[in-house]
Amino acid sequence: KEDVPTTIVVFGASGDLAKKKTFPALFHLFQRSLLPKRLSIIGYARTHMSPEEFHKRVTSHFGEDVDKKSVANFLQLCTYFSGKYDVADDFRSLRKEIEDREKKMKPGGSGNRVHVYYMALPPSMFVDVATQLKNNVYDDSCTNRLVIEKPFGHDLKSSRVLSKEIGSLFEENEIFRIDHYLGKEMVKNILTLRFANVFYEAVWNRHYISNVQITFKEPFGTEGRGGYFDEFGIIRDVMQNHMLQVLSIVAMTQPQSLDAEDVRDRKTEVLQRILPIQLEDTMLGQYVASIDGSKPGYKDDDTVPKDSITPTFAQCVLHVDNDRWRGVPWVIKAGKALNEAKMLIRIQYKDMPNSLFPNLARNELVIQVSPKESVYIKTIVKEPGLSTNLAMSELDLTYKTRYHDISIPDAYATLILDVLNGDHSDFVRSDELDEAWRIFTPLLHKIERERVEPLPYEYGSRGPEGAYQFVEDRVGYKRTGL
Ligand code: BG6
Repeated sequence: KEDVPTTIVVFGASGDLAKKKTFPALFHLFQRSLLPKRLSIIGYARTHMSPEEFHKRVTSHFGEDVDKKSVANFLQLCTYFSGKYDVADDFRSLRKEIEDREKKMKPGGSGNRVHVYYMALPPSMFVDVATQLKNNVYDDSCTNRLVIEKPFGHDLKSSRVLSKEIGSLFEENEIFRIDHYLGKEMVKNILTLRFANVFYEAVWNRHYISNVQITFKEPFGTEGRGGYFDEFGIIRDVMQNHMLQVLSIVAMTQPQSLDAEDVRDRKTEVLQRILPIQLEDTMLGQYVASIDGSKPGYKDDDTVPKDSITPTFAQCVLHVDNDRWRGVPWVIKAGKALNEAKMLIRIQYKDMPNSLFPNLARNELVIQVSPKESVYIKTIVKEPGLSTNLAMSELDLTYKTRYHDISIPDAYATLILDVLNGDHSDFVRSDELDEAWRIFTPLLHKIERERVEPLPYEYGSRGPEGAYQFVEDRVGYKRTGL
């Protein structure tokens, strides 16, 4: 690999995202010698901090048993710079800092330089910072990469305004919009499963698949971030982005190549074939205190208005209107404060045609993204032994069992490595983002305009009453137990 002098500036370096995700991911890559050899990392934030305070902060999430020497070596690459987000002088000083540190890097390697600007910031600051960067720091003799995090706007209109403003400062190929679900092992694996195995792809269509369900469940509520959450709700928080991204990879046709633009073209095509989601095909919920009262309800949080109608649970049924999927219902379901932590994709196949066996259950392929990475196929077998009955079993690839000595990296490590390699495949392109908002914006506006009341469900339960029936009625889902 080319050894390119690289500078990473992390804006919002004193914040939670930087502490919990960005710096641990950088350290993870450093430990595996995956960072460029000539590297400078600059943390930038408003807070005044000594280098020691900064170091303490960024290492606080490195884990208990890290190698102290490695941490010390990593910290040698990191410095802190305190500045405002809208003051030109501060950005000019930042530029000087970048240049000074670049001069100190060992000479050699190619002449190219890479500057990565990582915005671990609230979205309200993206444009200010991008503007300051462009006017005072941007150096067109090097490769510039701007990394931003959701939320990218609030609806189609605000997202377009944001895209336009950022797009007037940075080229699309300089922008990396993070959707961290795209960096997850099992999400990255979908493409391989589908396009490297003949037996999946051959039956990956409406002739064999009855319905697809993508489910996201968290066992905790929004305590501590009620203020943020109330403005967004579950649809904007995880459905419009993470779940739709996963859906588009499950539904896409094979790209011409693994090149980022080819992959993203195919994903965008899927989104273009989804009609805006209707309220009639949606169920909304909001959690109340647990039955035993030990867990608070959503509105018990002081930062949440008492009359809030923000959904913390939602499920919708949608269709991808193309030859491959016409007639197949897709369900996306997401909820906070439910009974378990789980993110999975469940593909239910159709009934076996001309079956020799009466009342057969259906096959299912399940890709579990978290907490336990696994792929399993619900498969009917003869009950072992002298019996000739049938039994439901699984062809089971659980990663912990099969790959027990491999540690699966956090999604952020994967994505930061992609940024350093300039690979856009797992980042959201502006047209994909636009389509995702087009699908949800009319529904979101209707909910807000008509103040649609979400159904209550208890903290720790399986969701609002009737949630499972709602799905079964709409998709003809058949339980697979025999
Ligand atoms: C974030 C949402 O994007 O994703 C959170 O804002 C959610 O509400 C989180 O908890 C889930 O991510 P993960 O990686 O923990 O499944």
